[in-house]
Amino acid sequence: TIVEQIQIIDSKNHVGETVKIGAWIANKRSSGKIAFLQLRDGTAYFQGIVVKSEVPEEVFQLAKSLTQETSVWIIGEIREDSRSKFGYEIGVTGIEVIGESHEYPITPKEHGTDFLMDHRHLWLRSSRQHAIMQIRNEIIRATYEFFNNNNFVKIDPPILTASTAEGTTDLFETNYFDQKAYLSQSGQLYMEAAALAFGKVFSFGPTFRAEKSKTRRHLIEFWMIEPEMAFMHQEESLEVQEQYVAFLVQSVLDNCDHALDVLERDREVLKKYTQLPFPRISYDEAVELLKKNGFDDIEWGDDFGSPHETFIANSFDRPVFILNYPKAIKAFYMKPHPTRDDVVICADMIAPEGYGEIIGGSERAIDHDYLLEQIRNHNLDEKEYSWYLDLRRYGSVPHSGFGLGLERTVTWLAGIEHVREASPFPRLLNRIYP
Ligand code: 4AD
Ligand code: MG
Repeated sequence: TIVEQIQIIDSKNHVGETVKIGAWIANKRSSGKIAFLQLRDGTAYFQGIVVKSEVPEEVFQLAKSLTQETSVWIIGEIREDSRSKFGYEIGVTGIEVIGESHEYPITPKEHGTDFLMDHRHLWLRSSRQHAIMQIRNEIIRATYEFFNNNNFVKIDPPILTASTAEGTTDLFETNYFDQKAYLSQSGQLYMEAAALAFGKVFSFGPTFRAEKSKTRRHLIEFWMIEPEMAFMHQEESLEVQEQYVAFLVQSVLDNCDHALDVLERDREVLKKYTQLPFPRISYDEAVELLKKNGFDDIEWGDDFGSPHETFIANSFDRPVFILNYPKAIKAFYMKPHPTRDDVVICADMIAPEGYGEIIGGSERAIDHDYLLEQIRNHNLDEKEYSWYLDLRRYGSVPHSGFGLGLERTVTWLAGIEHVREASPFPRLLNRIYP
């Protein structure tokens, strides 16, 4: 009997069985007597071995003629294979072609980035992209596990909005019948409403920023995880943040063995990122540190650029929090410092190894009149924030929250160069194809 609907990843449960597997030909080597098919089914890769003397001649000839990315039904017996790291292979006895593939554009040779980006829909099939998406998937899975374990309720903020959290310069505008609307750049304001309804909440969804930045850290569309917690001050929020990030790192170490191998990511380096607490330095101290080390381009009050963040991060062996930035460069909703009027109660978490900011967060201002003044100072449309001010009118409580960028976190944990590979179909400055 032939066992059908088997996936390669499940090979260990089918050793000695004859199975039928749907797969693509990732690669092939053959000699006069034997053909080695590198098979890919989306769950894993393993080798199919076709021995001329053991199969009908037409099966052997078909195996030899298979081209890259042809889709096939493979029939054969699963065996242990101590020589491969995966540990299993299939002794092929039958092959049925499903879909032919001729002149597949992405060959094993090197291709330029633009070419690969133009073929993103096919490039996703490569083993490196497969590994990156497995790490992304693990971070998504672990995020739900962490917040569910800690009694957070998942709340979905709207994508179409009339109010904005992070300023008005990078908004995508669209028509909402006879009104203007924007694609959400952050769900935060709605998550504050949700925290006052459900205590501890988190969102996980797409956000959009029409940023003119063409850097290795910026996407136009990215996914953000935004927890918001009632009755919580900044110091306790920082503890949640470091526990969450350490949990993500540990989950990737535990569950992405193969992906880490493919990406040649050093596990010893990652292990350091599970050690708590993460260091905390103030914005003031960060500016001092930079000045002492020859950065003459930074003055108190400036925002940090990526060379600054990288230098600060390199001074530590794990992620670092930079606390209490100048009020003038941060969002309107942040809680003012109790004894200084030039800084706000906030923190960015900077990833090691030059990956930059992965979390932005703060304690929220809860004084109604202060917030109204802030809304006016930032030239925001007051009537669109009336609902937000209600949160300060009816049973306001201290609350704090943060946003973690999914793709930046994937880029960092996978140890890859550019955030574009952390998204299956990245939207970039000047690129919406494919
Ligand atoms: O620091 P940001 O702008 O913070 C907020 O949006 C807050 N409202 C979050 C909150 O407190 N609920 O963005 C948060 C994170 C950044 O640290 C970064 O990881 C990611 O979102 N991010 C981007 N990732 C990719 N491409 C971009 N253009 C990004 N902009 C922000
Ligand atoms: Mg930020």
